Amino acid sequence: MGNVAIIGTQWGDEGKGKIVDIFADAANVIVRFHGGNNAGHTLVVNNQKTVLHLIPSGILRDKKICVIGNGVVIDPAELLKEIDDISSRGLFPKRTKLFISELAHLIMPYHKALDAAKEQVASKKIGTTGRGIGPAYEDKVARTGIRVGDLLDKKVLREKIEASVPLKNAILQKVYGATCSFSAQEISEEYSRYAERLREYVANTSVILAREIAKGKKVLFEGAQGTQLDIDYGTYPFVTSSNTIVGNASTGSGVGPAHIGRVVGLCKAYTTRVGEGPFPTELNDDIGERLQRIGCEFGATTGRKRRCGWLDLVLVKQAVRLSGISSLAITKLDVLTGMDKIMICVGYELAGKKITDALPASIADFAQCRPIYREFPGWSENISAAREIADLPRNARRYLDFIAKHTQTNIALISVGASREETIICEELFS
Ligand code: IMP
Repeated sequence: MGNVAIIGTQWGDEGKGKIVDIFADAANVIVRFHGGNNAGHTLVVNNQKTVLHLIPSGILRDKKICVIGNGVVIDPAELLKEIDDISSRGLFPKRTKLFISELAHLIMPYHKALDAAKEQVASKKIGTTGRGIGPAYEDKVARTGIRVGDLLDKKVLREKIEASVPLKNAILQKVYGATCSFSAQEISEEYSRYAERLREYVANTSVILAREIAKGKKVLFEGAQGTQLDIDYGTYPFVTSSNTIVGNASTGSGVGPAHIGRVVGLCKAYTTRVGEGPFPTELNDDIGERLQRIGCEFGATTGRKRRCGWLDLVLVKQAVRLSGISSLAITKLDVLTGMDKIMICVGYELAGKKITDALPASIADFAQCRPIYREFPGWSENISAAREIADLPRNARRYLDFIAKHTQTNIALISVGASREETIICEELFS
């Protein structure tokens, strides 16, 4: 089976854009299956930087099929902005096709207002991206959501918006004390305009994917965020509102699990997190500041500074187990160059007990976890020109060997710089 799923093993921002782009180049079909424009995948193609939030990363390449699956929540205004941006810069090749699942749910203006209002009154803020992601998934599960397919029928769209708006206005005003008030008519008109532009992309994407798989085409399932933000298995409640682990590649795209294929886990050589929530290996010191600065650790979506810390293999092991990850793509190894010593967290100490394989279920317990470190000697050589593992300094190889052994995975790829060429490919991408 030639298909591959790429899953973040940490709290997102593992450097997905570059790695997904390398895989996308070798794939025929690229599918996003969850999340929304809370994600931000940065691509540099032909020296042009593009940040994609919703459209699968293959869109900039010729003769690809890009699919936004049913598990994604779509803000149509943002999606059109993204389409217009890449089209106006001549980056959307004519022979590349975009399809949007008719079953994907829409983010409505009141979802964004609710996201902001909830964060404002919360005693413990999550630090969401403010894109309306949580409230849109809430409506999906409550069976009151509006789907892409609804856009295509003016009457249905209007009825659904009319049913939702008074309720959302009441919640915003009476529960959250907000002053905003949405008009069903205005939203209906606005979304009808989006419908006219998006109509050409809407399809039964499960059928399209099945057809391509039957033809033997290579499919890349492009995960967003990371395992520790998974709604079930992440550091709840400081998580996003979708399943970020590989199981959702199936439900979120309408492809049977047997077709998912190999799972590659993305693992940054250290750990970062945006938003709130416990982070055992966080470094609130010069080293953390150095990682933030040299790694350019700013969120691609919100521009927020990312919190930085040492690599935490308890998190990565949990991700390996949850998604059946067989290989890791290690990113930003070059950011560690020049450090005398480097730490890897191999376990936590919690109330006198040692934890090595799984995060505690309780967030209060997780906040009490103290990291247990293994120390590794650093390297000072510039590694950006390395194209094979053998080109790396001995201490960098020791660091990687330990990660692979400890997580019982292979290393598929190592990123040693921001550009596409600055990559060591150790395994065939699609086998
Ligand atoms: P939401 O997904 O906007 O509801 O945000 C929930 C949490 O997930 C917040 O801590 C966000 O910072 C985090 N988050 C959401 N999307 C991403 C991402 O793509 N990368 C990193 N963190 C994210």
